[in-house]
Amino acid sequence: MAILVTGGAGYIGSHAARALRRSGYEVILYDNLSTSDRRLTEGFELVTADIADEQALKPVLKRVDAVMHFAAHAYVGESVENPRKYFRNNVEGGLCLLNTALDAGIRRFVFSSTCAVYGVPAQIPIKEETQRQPVNPYGVTKLFFENALEAYGRAYGLRFVCLRYFNAAGADEGGEIGELHDPETHLIPLALAAAAPGDRELQIFGTDYPTADGTCIRDYIHVNDLADAHVRSLQYLEKGGHSVELNLGTGQGHSVYEILQMTETVTGAAVRRRVVPRRHGDPPVLIADATRAQRMLGWKATRSLRDIVSTAWNWMQKARSEPQRA
Ligand code: UFG
Repeated sequence: MAILVTGGAGYIGSHAARALRRSGYEVILYDNLSTSDRRLTEGFELVTADIADEQALKPVLKRVDAVMHFAAHAYVGESVENPRKYFRNNVEGGLCLLNTALDAGIRRFVFSSTCAVYGVPAQIPIKEETQRQPVNPYGVTKLFFENALEAYGRAYGLRFVCLRYFNAAGADEGGEIGELHDPETHLIPLALAAAAPGDRELQIFGTDYPTADGTCIRDYIHVNDLADAHVRSLQYLEKGGHSVELNLGTGQGHSVYEILQMTETVTGAAVRRRVVPRRHGDPPVLIADATRAQRMLGWKATRSLRDIVSTAWNWMQKARSEPQRA
């Protein structure tokens, strides 16, 4: 069985591609390399094109049985400043992919969604039934695509799994691939960089939140646990499973200070840090209720926070010591 992985040169897509291949699937990566890195595609067939390019999509969609759709812009702050870019890629581009896939006879679809569709939820942990009220354009574009999938499912018999990730982090245990964002905005790679030799400093965005230590709490999930959930989602659809939305998190929250503590334990170095005002739009606490994924897919996150930070650290050291091949 062949799978098209859009955004396959990106952080989560590249990990899922390897997990798919380990499970016996044929994988074709599809990526415009705009924010991703060719280094993460080594050993795979890569079609370098945009998801809004119907002519490039048509021939490759004829060769696959299902689509895993990761390709998206995913910076919350940027989406506020430049929403047009987000609607153009995540909505217009996404619909082009969806329509072309439908026309090519594809009826199985796995979509990278996000906890950002919930906005600032009234209840923690967050269940999938929670009202979806995104508070930034990024979340709005992801919600739009979720809605399109639901409508297409009803009208055209498309079956899909929508995976709502919480905070993806960590790197492949083999050390070959990991997080390579440019610019990097995520806490764990920035904390590691602030513990590594040099003068980088981590800015802590607010210590006045209504949490035990005053910093924000998030549900950090290892990227290979996410990858495993993607393989299971596909197997679930192959067995005839109906369309479903699933939260992917560990169900455990960690504060920014707890992340810094783990970073110091793993690296053996102090994290250079400075407290600055809150970052606009950060909800105080986001924790998944991931029991539905466990029930439907038999999936559960197996990697700990220490695994997350130590694999990210291994990868960062390796990526720093290697010349750019991109
Ligand atoms: N943080 C800092 N300093 C930094 C970076 C982050 O203190 O330099 C804090 C943030 O305030 C937040 C936590 O660390 O409390 C995690 O921040 P990240 O930027 O790593 O992740 P987010 O929780 O902001 O973003 C994640 C996903 C997005 C998704 C969003 C939904 O990466 O794709 O959750 O809220 F949209």
